[in-house]
Amino acid sequence: MSLEQTLNDQERLAGLDLAQLEQLVGLVEYDESGDPFPVSGWDALVWVVGNAVQTAHFFQSAFGMELVAYSGPETGNRDHHSFVLRSGAARFVVQGAYDPDSPLADHHRRHGDGIVDIALAVPDVDRCITHARAQGATVLEEPHDVSDEHGTVRLASIGTYGDTRHTLVDRSRYAGAYLPGYVERTSSFVPRDGAPKRLFQAVDHVVGNVELGAMDEWVGFYNRVMGFTNMAEFIGEDIATDYSALMSKVVANGNHRVKFPLNEPAPGKKKSQIDEYLEFYRGAGAQHVALATNDIVRTVDAMRAEGVEFLPTPGSYYEDPELRARIGTVRVPIEELKSRGILVDRDEDGYLLQIFTRPTGDRPTVFFELIERHGSLGFGKGNFKALFEAIEREQEKRGNF
Ligand SMILES: [Fe+2]
Repeated sequence: MSLEQTLNDQERLAGLDLAQLEQLVGLVEYDESGDPFPVSGWDALVWVVGNAVQTAHFFQSAFGMELVAYSGPETGNRDHHSFVLRSGAARFVVQGAYDPDSPLADHHRRHGDGIVDIALAVPDVDRCITHARAQGATVLEEPHDVSDEHGTVRLASIGTYGDTRHTLVDRSRYAGAYLPGYVERTSSFVPRDGAPKRLFQAVDHVVGNVELGAMDEWVGFYNRVMGFTNMAEFIGEDIATDYSALMSKVVANGNHRVKFPLNEPAPGKKKSQIDEYLEFYRGAGAQHVALATNDIVRTVDAMRAEGVEFLPTPGSYYEDPELRARIGTVRVPIEELKSRGILVDRDEDGYLLQIFTRPTGDRPTVFFELIERHGSLGFGKGNFKALFEAIEREQEKRGNF
């Protein structure tokens, strides 16, 4: 699969070019011929929330996303509301129960707001499922076509950690707004004067939190079932503070468009942030979504103006001479980063700027990262300690530390 093929029509329409995307999410060339489970990119992140009507508004007003499609009681779907939102190449689908007996209501009762489906774009659904089944994956939905007047989409889905799934989507024969059953929908929401056209352009990575001892099992799952390869590895000291620790490994598809860091808690003196997540999500699940932006300063300013809360970074982080020496010169003056709490990391390939929000739902579970890459293919390893200490201060305030 050439890098060009990773761009779909909607992304071209959104004005994204390949050079931009390569830089934004750190794409690499790869040879698809030996890949048993070719993945071309993300299709959608599907959320189940307690109030889809309001969450869809939040993603428009605070995250600058655009409402493009809808399914709900008015369209014949008497089970739930479902809003489809886009920002550049990123697509979120936000679902909430309409019928009190909807399975989504049970899902929400157990897990709270969260990601139920990390849907992936694949060129050949059947080939992926044949391989996944042979490797022992749980096939939740067999390959099948769904059609309407806009064409046909081929779908199937497999289970991953916790109650999370990967739906595999081939929409190469489909021209509708999202899927059959959905109608196009726009919104009367108007962004503020001077707001950037888009606050982020793509999804960079989605992190999964899994139970103690389960990380290697899930790394093996992605290696074996989905042909993903291991990227970076962070163990022990790298991400241990004085009190708590976690282990993390990263798997990615061939072109690195899809990257899944997987965390498990490691024994420490106090409760790790991963344990807090597992307790409140009632099991394994998606911990954070990293959104790629080409101007993190503008994005943070715009989101903060809409009330999004970010984790504070102590001033001492920016005074640390070791950090100053390591990061060298970056696009933005350090003072600009410091006033916003944006973190910097550098590795052999380049650098990245990143910042994390507080959890965006009621439970201390899922949150967002903004990331601006300049050559670095990493995940901010050099910031983990500073970041985790900031998370621990928040955990302490919640009484979960
Ligand atoms: Fe991340």
